[in-house]
Amino acid sequence: MGSPVVLGIESSCDETGAGLVREGRLLGHAVASSMDEHARFGGVVPEIAARAHVHSFTPVVRRALDAAGLRMADIGAIAVTTGPGLSGALQVGLAGAKSLAYALDVPLYGVHHLAGHVAADTLEHGPLPDPCMVLIVSGGHTSLLLVRDLARDPIVHLGDTVDDAAGECFDKVARVFGLPYPGGPAIDRTARDGDPRAVTFPRPLTGPRDARYAFSFSGLKTAAARWAERHRIQGEDLPLADGAAALQEAVADVLTRKAVAACREHRVDTLVVVGGVAANSRVRALAEERCRAAGIALRVPSLKLCTDNGAMIAAVGDLLVRAGAEPAPLEVSIDPSAPL
Ligand code: KG4
Ligand code: ZN
Repeated sequence: MGSPVVLGIESSCDETGAGLVREGRLLGHAVASSMDEHARFGGVVPEIAARAHVHSFTPVVRRALDAAGLRMADIGAIAVTTGPGLSGALQVGLAGAKSLAYALDVPLYGVHHLAGHVAADTLEHGPLPDPCMVLIVSGGHTSLLLVRDLARDPIVHLGDTVDDAAGECFDKVARVFGLPYPGGPAIDRTARDGDPRAVTFPRPLTGPRDARYAFSFSGLKTAAARWAERHRIQGEDLPLADGAAALQEAVADVLTRKAVAACREHRVDTLVVVGGVAANSRVRALAEERCRAAGIALRVPSLKLCTDNGAMIAAVGDLLVRAGAEPAPLEVSIDPSAPL
C-alpha cells in the first residue's frame, strides 16, 4: 500500500500555501501571497490576510494538485498549521482543511508552524540527522532549537528573541530607510552596493554576561533609526547602501555566532537555517563561512521553501503519518500563540 499522499495547508500569516508530499518527497505545491495588499500599511493587516486566505484557499489547493498531477481523490491525509500565527488567518486554513478531511474521509493532523519550517529542509536534503541544531529566523520568530525526531520528540527551545524578530528588524528599519515592504529583501538588495564597515551597529546580547542563546533586535532597530536621523538633521543624503550593509552584517553576525556556539556546546554537527531571513545573502554567506571553520555541516533550504508554504506543513504531516501518530479530532482548534 505504501504511505498516503499528504496535503499540507499553511495560512498562519500572509501566505496561503498548499503542498503535497509522500514518503519525504515533494510532489507539488503552490503559494498565493497577500503581501502586496499589506504593502501600503507597512506590515501584515490581520483582517486583510484572513480575507485573502478565503479568496485563495481553493485555487491554491487546485494549483498544488495540478502541479503534482494528482486529483482530489488521491489525497490520503491532511496536515494543517494550527499555530502560532494570526488567529483569523489560521481559522480560514483550519476550516478549509477540516472540510476537506471530512468530505474525503481522511485523517487530519495539526502542525506547529515552526516544525513546518524545520521540516522544509527534509524535502530537499533528506531526513534530518538526530540531533541537529535549527536556527529559525523569520518575520515572527528568531529561535534556536535543538531537534531530535520531529515526529516523536518535542523540540528543545534553547533561545528566543526577547523583543523583535530578525525579520521584523529588517522590515522596520527598511521602513525608516524609506525602502519598500517587505523590508528584508529590500535591505538585501540595497546592501549589495554598500560597505558594511562604513557604519558600526551594535551586536546585542553578545556580551559575556548575556544569556547565550537569547536574541534582541529592537536596540539595533533604534540604532539604525538614530543613524538615519543624524544624517537627516545634518541635511545629508542617507548613505543607504552602507546603512543596509552594516545592518545586515550586524544581524548576520549575531545569528551565526550564537548558532555556531550552540552547536559546539551541544556537540551537534549539523546546523539548519530556515525561515524567511535564511534567504538573506549575508546570513547565508556568514553561516557558510563559520560552519566550515567549525566543521559543522550547514543545511539551508532553497528560497521558495524558506518562506511560508504548504509543502513544509505536508512534510511534517508525512512524518507524523509514517510514525503512526494519532490524528487530530475534527473538533481541533487553532492555537495562535502555540508554544513549541
Ligand atoms: O518565514 P517568512 O516568510 O514568514 C514568517 O515570518 O513566518 O519570513 C518573512 C520575513 C520577513 O520579515 C522578510 O523581510 C524576511 O523574512 N526576509 C528577508 C529576506 N527575504 C525575506 N530578510 C532578509 N533578507 C532577505 N533576503
Ligand atoms: Zn513562517
